[in-house]
This record gives sequence, C-alpha cells and structure tokens, in this order.
Amino acid sequence: MWGGRFAGGPSAIMREINASIPFDKRLWRQDIAGSRAHVAMLGAQGIVSADDVAAIDGGLATIAAEYEAGGVPEDLDREDIHMTAESRLAELIGAPAGRLHTARSRNDQVATDFKLWVRDAIDAVEAGLAGLQAALVARAEEHAASVMPGFTHLQVAQPVTLGHHLMAYYEMIGRDRSRFADAKARANLCPLGAAALAGTGFPIDRSATARALGFAGPTRNSLDSVSDRDFALDYLMAATQCSLHLSRLAEEFVIWASQPYGFVSLPDSYSTGSSIMPQKRNPDAAELVRGHSGRIAGCMVALTMTMKGLPLAYSKDMQDDKPPVFEAHDLLALSIAAMTGMVETSTFRTERMRGAAEAGFSTATDLADWLVRQADIPFREAHHITGRVVKLAETENVALSALSLDALQAIDARIDERVFAALTIDASVAARSSFGGTAPDQVCARVAEAKIALGAG
Ligand code: ARG
Repeated sequence: MWGGRFAGGPSAIMREINASIPFDKRLWRQDIAGSRAHVAMLGAQGIVSADDVAAIDGGLATIAAEYEAGGVPEDLDREDIHMTAESRLAELIGAPAGRLHTARSRNDQVATDFKLWVRDAIDAVEAGLAGLQAALVARAEEHAASVMPGFTHLQVAQPVTLGHHLMAYYEMIGRDRSRFADAKARANLCPLGAAALAGTGFPIDRSATARALGFAGPTRNSLDSVSDRDFALDYLMAATQCSLHLSRLAEEFVIWASQPYGFVSLPDSYSTGSSIMPQKRNPDAAELVRGHSGRIAGCMVALTMTMKGLPLAYSKDMQDDKPPVFEAHDLLALSIAAMTGMVETSTFRTERMRGAAEAGFSTATDLADWLVRQADIPFREAHHITGRVVKLAETENVALSALSLDALQAIDARIDERVFAALTIDASVAARSSFGGTAPDQVCARVAEAKIALGAG
C-alpha cells in the first residue's frame, strides 16, 4: 500500500509485530459497512464516478459474502482488516478499487469501525442484562416472603426475604444498564471523514456517512476523532463495574452452595464433579464468573495504560485497543449468560435459610424495638436488655422466641407476653415495611414496578 516510498519489504519480525489482522478481523462487518457508506457518499458528491461506485459496492458485497461463508483470511502481509478487505477488492474489481480510499485514512476508518463494533457490543450486553434482570425478578416474586438471614460482616444480622436479596441485584444491574446506555449515547458521533488527522480537501459530506452508519452526526474535531478511544474505555469501565456485580452475585452462590450454608442447590447443568471425590458438586461456573471479573478489570486497566500519555493524533499503540475490548466483551457476555442460567435454574433451599435465620438470634433488634415502642424504654437501654436476653438464649441454646415469659421477665419486668409476636422471623420481616424495606409487601411492590420497567408487567 505504500510501495512507492520503500525499496525493501518489512522483516518477518516487523510484519509480525505490526499485523493486527489476527484480532481485528473481528471488525469485518463494520469495515465493509463503513466502506459502503463512504463510497456511496463519494459517488453522491461526484468525487467518484457512478460506474466505479457500482463496481466498488458490488465488490464489497462479494467480500462480505465471502467472509460470511469462509471467514477472513489471515495474511500478515495485509496487516489489518482494512488492507485485507481493500486488497481483496483490488483482486475482484481491479483498478476502480483504488478509488475507495479517496478522502479517507485508516485512522478515521479504524476509529469508525471500532466505534460501530462497540455500539453493537453494548446492544448485546444490554439484551443480556435485561434477561438477567427478568430472571432475578421472576425468582424474587417466587420468594417474596421466603425468609433468610440478612448478613453484615457475614454474621447473621436481621432476617430478610430472599426476594429482597435478589432484587438488590436487580437494582445493581439496572445501574449497569444505565452506564452502558450512557456509553452508547456518548459514542453517537461518527469519526469517518476526519481522514488521517486534519480532515480532507475533497468535498465530502460527513453528515451523510454519519447518518448512513446510524450515528447522530459527524465528530467535530478531526484530531480528536482519530485519537479518541473514550468510547472503548467507557465500555470497559461499564463492563468492569458490571462484572464486579456479577462477581458478588457469583460469590454469594459459591457461599450459599457450600454444605454448611446449604442455601442453594445448583442444578447439574451448572455444576461440575470432582475426579477424585465422588460426593463433590462444585460451583465452577460461579467461581469462573468471579474470576472473570478480575480479567475484565485487567482489560480496562490495559487500555487505560495504552492511552495515557499518547500525544495527538494517531499512534500505533492504539492498535492495542482492540484485544482488551474483545476479551472483556467475550468474558462479560459469558458471565451474564452463566449468572442468568444459575439464577433461573437453582433451587433455593428455603427451609435451610429459615433455619439459619432462626438460629442466629436475628430478631434481637425486633426485641429492642419492641421494648422501645411498648415499654417506652430508651433504645440504648433496650439494646442492653436485649443483649442479656440473647446471652440467656445462647446459654440455653434456644431461639429467642423459645424463651419462657418468666425467664424474660426475670431480665426485665416490663416485658409481657405480647413480645412473642414480635420475635418470629416472619413478624420481623413483615415489620420492615418502610419504602425499599425487606417486608414481603414492599418486595412485591418493587417486583411489580420492575416487571413494568422490563416490559413484562
Ligand atoms: N490496524 C491499525 C489499528 O488498528 C489501523 C490504523 C493504522 N493507521 C496507521 N496510520 N498505521 O490501529
């Protein structure tokens, strides 16, 4: 492509370090779409003749069909997807192929291709996350009143409902979706036509190519257009935060599936066995989601490090932008699918969850609250009285609700038999009916809103 200036070819090492075709072939659809939009505009502007436009467009359609059927050939001499497609075009249609690159550089071409790819990737992630939310909402509705221990410091704290716990992840995923939507909205201007860095003297119509490729308009500064990879970083940062949420959910599945907890049984389809321990049923998929989140964060850091300190405009370092985005996207898509599958198919062992909530004196706060409300005792004093009650229950190895009234009154005479209604875990969750609280009626209200938001109401 630049033979005029050079007497010799690249060394084998130069060829290898320079080539991006092994990974950027993944941009072929976007590259063909960008070229077709560009050549149509060149024709409309009278820069390339109608005959040549027809030949080029027909050739590009043929190449698309070839790549669709047989994949993209990986010839390092052709360096990247842009040169691969253009040299194939020259083979197919001869001389007119040379007119395609008029008023264009690979610098604006690659920025355009990659932006288009990231936009499509965001659409795919969005659809996956909506599916995960739907799965969470369905299981939350089923378990709106299933009581489990709520934890702080991974110590039993207060009873909550499983539906409430699952809906917490619905909220997190909702924020992820809005971050991806923001990233897409910000990637809405088209770099094509910025050319190498300074724009072009040809009378191009950048608005036309932008429109043809589904952008709101052209980017406004040619230097920024070819130097900007914010859209990829936005994607990676949203992906990192999303994978962090998936990792936390995965971690809960790992903990919950362990025998001492026994809160969840993963189906065979999301478990693996051990080659030595016949009893094992391991939550490998959840562990890998947890692991993948670290790799996704690593991809985000990788591109951050590539971009920091690069002067305007294009530098070849930027060719390294694609592998971390592709890797993060593949890991994220798989992680979303795996978590969706686990949420949909796991069996929640509600009797085990209830038992754990009963066993952990999780209604101690309810006793303290009762003393405040019914006996007008200041909360700090009520806290102290309750502490003594818990100590007694611990010594006698019984639940708070199983202590006798005599025993309770021996600790504080102001306690009466009405207290028992407050000490059950069901009463405890039902009482927490403040907006956004864990009470089943609150969970059901949030589920109903979520179903409407997801278009399933
Ligand atoms: N393969 C290159 C990349 O991915 C395309 C842009 C090359 N531009 C250049 N001036 N060498 O970044």
